[in-house]
Amino acid sequence: MKMSKVLSVVLAMGVGAVLAAPGNVFADGKATFGAKKCGSCHSTDAAKASDKAPNLSYAGSKYQAAWLEAWLAKPTPVRQVKWGTLTKGTTSHDALSAGEAKEVAAYLATLTDAKVAKGAVPAGEAKGAAKVQGKLLFEKKQGCYGCHLVKGSGGKVTGGFTGPSLAEAGARLQADWIVAYLKDPNHFFPETMSPNYSKRFNDNEMKTIAQYMMSFK
Ligand code: HEC
Ligand code: HEC
Repeated sequence: MKMSKVLSVVLAMGVGAVLAAPGNVFADGKATFGAKKCGSCHSTDAAKASDKAPNLSYAGSKYQAAWLEAWLAKPTPVRQVKWGTLTKGTTSHDALSAGEAKEVAAYLATLTDAKVAKGAVPAGEAKGAAKVQGKLLFEKKQGCYGCHLVKGSGGKVTGGFTGPSLAEAGARLQADWIVAYLKDPNHFFPETMSPNYSKRFNDNEMKTIAQYMMSFK
């Protein structure tokens, strides 16, 4: 809805209704997303990539709800490079109020991708043999940390900077989405410099890695 349209609806409702409405006149997250011009950088259309920011058309499949809401209210850099480049530098991102973040996170949660098989990875962190194997795959079979920040011993964040930080992947990403991404990164990000692991890992290995990554917090 355009600003002027929202205002006229609000005026028609009368001042009493405005005071009764929680938050502000942008009654839902979709309207806030529009009013804050998030779409000027982020695409919410799966078929249309943006060269300015990550695609949010699958945000509801990718991010954990609590992380998304908290991040929108208090964004911290995810990447050590400018989006879509290898140029070092972080992005300072505009913050939303707590109320707006809740609304927008609720709206983004509705944007899902059918390619992500829900429930593919068992809930929770990898334990026992799965944990040992996940660590082996992540650290030895492929040095994922060569391009991603991870937390090392004592919680120290180390690693490469080409890809987004995975230091908080267990709080930030959904395990089912990680599997779908490893299988076909170009589906989610056509221009990505991310390696395609579909030939190097089998299905079970991808699930084990994703479950192992749920311990990254
Ligand atoms: C000026 C361009 C711009 C605008 C406007 C903008 N963003 Fe962003 N956004 C970015 C960039 C660039 C990143 C990547 C930041 C990073 O990697 O640290 C990002 C990251 C994000 C992320 C995390 C994505 C990820 O996978 O790393 C979310 C969620 C997000 N933005 C939501 C929003 C919302 C909601 C709005 C509107 C309130 C908004 N953005 C407005 C440029 C923008
Ligand atoms: C050669 C460098 C490189 C290696 C090695 C690498 N990645 Fe990545 N990865 C990337 C890049 C580049 C991206 C996407 C860039 C972006 O979104 O800004 C990415 C994206 C990702 C994402 C999506 C994260 C997000 O927030 O969008 C996941 C998950 C991921 N990689 C997991 C892994 C795992 C697991 C391994 C090891 C098996 C690995 N990567 C190895 C470069 C790498």
